[in-house]
Amino acid sequence: MSDELAAEIEAANAELADKTPQEIMKWAMDRFGDKIALAWSGAEDVAVVDIMAKVDPKARVFTLDTGRLNPETYDVIDRVRDKYNMNIEVMFPNSDDTEAMVREQGMNLFYKSVDNRKLCCKTRKVQPLRRQLATLDAWVTGLRADQAVTRTALKVVEIDEAFGGIVKVNPLARWSHEDVWNYIKENEVPYNELHDNGYPSIGCAPCTRKVAEGEDIRAGRWWWESPETKECGLHVKEK
Ligand code: ADX
Ligand code: SF4
Repeated sequence: MSDELAAEIEAANAELADKTPQEIMKWAMDRFGDKIALAWSGAEDVAVVDIMAKVDPKARVFTLDTGRLNPETYDVIDRVRDKYNMNIEVMFPNSDDTEAMVREQGMNLFYKSVDNRKLCCKTRKVQPLRRQLATLDAWVTGLRADQAVTRTALKVVEIDEAFGGIVKVNPLARWSHEDVWNYIKENEVPYNELHDNGYPSIGCAPCTRKVAEGEDIRAGRWWWESPETKECGLHVKEK
């Protein structure tokens, strides 16, 4: 990453800090053209799909199919594909690595230890993400500062040191859970049916459970781990 790019991104972050997600994406899509794409998880970050498609119908969206997603997630991926007439770029894990992992550690290795869980996330999510990011100049996420203790310092635009200095754009950084849901409802954006069934946050099926009324929105993600370890490696630099 050049000093010039670092200075540009710092200035853009200051400029865009109080702007709307629409304004942030307009800047980002003008700046990076077809070298920017959204990482969409199949959950409420679908709001960003709608925002980007309204800036440019040719917006690029990819999703990391870990092979362990819920049927409702596959369903919404196709509903979004149809509504926006968009070829969602579905990324799969490397088959050799996944076969070796499962052979050595078992299908549900993630319940056995934090290290095993991180190995599974690395194999099924982080490596396919790395492969996709190698083709891009910038990526977009649905991250929000209000989601977790690990995300409070989130910036709108940043350099992603974890992935080789690529630019990372987080248009929903300042939005609340409620802002996202108001947007989805007002704009009639298709959404994952699990959200109506007690799942405010959705990841892989074996690693996500329902939360009770009043519980933290990410309490159902890797519920057997402490809040400090609950990141899958997409958004933190693994030491
Ligand atoms: S995670 O790190 O705990 O799994 P979370 O579910 O909060 O992440 O999602 C945060 C953002 O990470 C999403 O808005 C999306 O940009 C990206 N992301 C997470 N999971 C995926 C996935 N399976 N495919 C593509 N992007 C994803
Ligand atoms: Fe594996 Fe669970 Fe991570 Fe999905 S969330 S990649 S199943 S450990």
